[in-house]
Amino acid sequence: MRTQVCIIGGGPSGLLLSQLLDRAGIASVVLERQSRDYVLGRIRAGVLEYGTVGMLEQAGVAERAHAEGLPHSGTYLAVQNKGFRIDFDALIGKKVMVYGQTEVTRDLYAARAAAGGTVIHGVEGTQPRDLDTAAPYVTYTLGGTEHRIDCDFVAGCDGFHGPSRQAIPKNVLTEYERVYPFGWLGVLSETPPVSHELIYANHPRGFALASMRNANLSRYYIQAPVDDSLGKWTDQAFWDELRRRLPHDAADALITGPAIEKSIAPLRSYVADPMRWGRLFLVGDAAHIVPPTGAKGLNLAVSDVHYLFEALKQHYNEHDDSGLDGYSQTALARVWNAIRFSWWFTTTMHRFPDQTPFDQAIQDAELRYLEGSTTAQRGLAENYVGLPY
Ligand code: APR
Ligand code: PHB
Repeated sequence: MRTQVCIIGGGPSGLLLSQLLDRAGIASVVLERQSRDYVLGRIRAGVLEYGTVGMLEQAGVAERAHAEGLPHSGTYLAVQNKGFRIDFDALIGKKVMVYGQTEVTRDLYAARAAAGGTVIHGVEGTQPRDLDTAAPYVTYTLGGTEHRIDCDFVAGCDGFHGPSRQAIPKNVLTEYERVYPFGWLGVLSETPPVSHELIYANHPRGFALASMRNANLSRYYIQAPVDDSLGKWTDQAFWDELRRRLPHDAADALITGPAIEKSIAPLRSYVADPMRWGRLFLVGDAAHIVPPTGAKGLNLAVSDVHYLFEALKQHYNEHDDSGLDGYSQTALARVWNAIRFSWWFTTTMHRFPDQTPFDQAIQDAELRYLEGSTTAQRGLAENYVGLPY
């Protein structure tokens, strides 16, 4: 088989890139290790930057998001059970949209199927090859049969554990990482959200977040030891701890119910540089990981897709490779902005096991400054809703 762009990974990154390429008349094939249902079963966050919504519109997959998504013009920060609102609209005139990122992936799968796009599920042993030549190709097995796809370019949209980043020689790659000493225990419940906007809470017992998916599906998180067993956290134990950390009015209004999903996720910041090697371009989690505090995971993947899509269009339509040659530097500039914001928001809102009294005093001062300064709030707002591409 031959195509123009071979995309490894059928998550949001790979599907969005394939959809955009298809609408620009550029051929692609998506190779996905898991089944479609498995990919759609992954728990994902729920906040879309305004730029992400724009990219979904460009890809022709924003209809359901606009119909079912919830525009949010602000968020609430709580410190020791009382807090203040960050008004995105008043501060920077932009909103975010709360819409499950799993739904984004579902919409993308539907669009690829409607367009007759090629998404091959159940591939094994996927391996990009001859990336430092003008004739790269990708091999994989399907049902025990070896296959090869010859292409012009390979998009590594295969997440943190995929083969693409591993294909970059170790002496070429620089990796940056920070692992946080805690995790997020998350619960999904078929209950009305406690607030119409998200609540991020900094509490001496630890961080908490009240989010949602729709008017009867709530998503809550509490900071917890990453090695805690889920068995320790009964539903009641979770709800009791969440109440202790939320602002008093929210805690009093909280409607609890059975957890239909419960999981603990580790928190990490990671960046791989460069995001390009020869004819291979890394996209999304294949190149970077952010702690979920700033809800940047999917949104950062979408900005990578934007840069790579524009560069590929420029190559094929204008025979100009300046976009491809500048991809890694351009994408990484925005990646580091999101990495910085996610690190800052995580550091400001969580309690660290080893923090000193000085560290705590600095965090308290940071939060007091944020509460009292519209300039500081404007900085949070512009990063949260998404910096321009
Ligand atoms: N062969 C084929 N597919 C593979 C391979 C492989 N060897 N290894 C991994 N994959 C697939 C995974 O099964 C997964 O479906 O690549 C896909 C990568 O998707 P994600 O991990 O979701 O990464 P990405 O598409 O970059 O999404 C970015 O979206 O919702 C957020 O939190 C999520 O931060 C993440 C972001
Ligand atoms: C979510 O709804 O899952 C969510 C929202 C905001 C975040 C992280 C997760 O910062």
